[in-house]
Amino acid sequence: MAQKSSGLMRMCSFLLLVILFLPRGMTSSVLTVNGKTESHVLNTQLGSEESLKCAVQNHTGDEGLLWFREGGAVDLKSENKINSSAVCVTAISEDDNGVTFTCKLQRDQSVSISVVLNVPFPPLLSGNDYQTVEEGSAVKLVCNVKSNPQAQMMWYRNSSILTLEKNHHQVQQTSESLQLSITKVKKSDNGTYSCFAYSPLETKTKDFHLFVKDRGSSVPIEPIIAATVVVFLTLCFGLIARRQRIMKCCIKGEDPQRETAL
Ligand SMILES: *[C@@H]1O[C@H](CO)[C@@H](O)[C@H](O)[C@H]1NC(C)=O
Ligand SMILES: *[C@@H]1O[C@H](CO)[C@@H](O)[C@H](O)[C@H]1NC(C)=O
Ligand SMILES: *[C@@H]1O[C@H](CO)[C@@H](O)[C@H](O)[C@H]1NC(C)=O
Ligand SMILES: *[C@@H]1O[C@H](CO)[C@@H](O)[C@H](O)[C@H]1NC(C)=O
Repeated sequence: MAQKSSGLMRMCSFLLLVILFLPRGMTSSVLTVNGKTESHVLNTQLGSEESLKCAVQNHTGDEGLLWFREGGAVDLKSENKINSSAVCVTAISEDDNGVTFTCKLQRDQSVSISVVLNVPFPPLLSGNDYQTVEEGSAVKLVCNVKSNPQAQMMWYRNSSILTLEKNHHQVQQTSESLQLSITKVKKSDNGTYSCFAYSPLETKTKDFHLFVKDRGSSVPIEPIIAATVVVFLTLCFGLIARRQRIMKCCIKGEDPQRETAL
């Protein structure tokens, strides 16, 4: 009984020692990235280049390092893996904004330092700029935006802020888009709508053209297409049949010539 409990005690103290000293003692500041011991944001610029250097501090033997871009491991050369490791991000673009680079200790991947890139850039607007809609139906204009910092968005029409009519217009904004929904489109809704994005860096605008066509004006287009196809095919088959006959004539005509040549 006494033996059992002392054995248990010894195991407990051992576990306690392991928990207290092993992971914690090593986690705190074994790694540095560009000299910093903690995860941080790196402010950079469009088109520039950033070098991230990860190093192991106060180690006694070879320490393997790993780099990750978001979730994916970065392929490192063997001479760029031990004790210290550098990755270079070139031609920084809008897509690099918010991307996380993480350096990890191979032996214990819970030891890591992350760097998040912050790339300021003016608003980039996109969307379907020409839409045709039948009077009485519904339509949605979607102005997609990418911007850092986030832009303030607004719909304009006729060079003034779009006045929203109740139960007719509906504006919805997310961090990725500004949308204008119009229910029961009227003739007077026809025109150009401008999506404005205000950023401290630059104001950008994009035009969306809405063409409203008469309700009844839509000529039944399918039967016309079908009829056209039938006529076209008939002509084609006629032509092919004729062409084969023409070709036969040619071959016949050619034969004597060939003989002469030989
Ligand atoms: C690591 O070494 C540096 C000197 O190279 C020393 O200043 C620092 O206190 C050491 N850190 C640890 C955690 O031992
Ligand atoms: C890594 O660091 C250890 C300890 O300082 C050293 O003995 C070893 O040679 C280094 N390895 C390389 C590849 O630099
Ligand atoms: C836009 O402006 C034109 C000319 O100033 C005007 O005729 C038209 O009614 C305006 N449309 C709207 C929707 O305000
Ligand atoms: C409808 O809007 C388009 C796009 O702004 C414009 O080009 C066209 O002239 C307008 N049509 C009418 C009938 O107002």
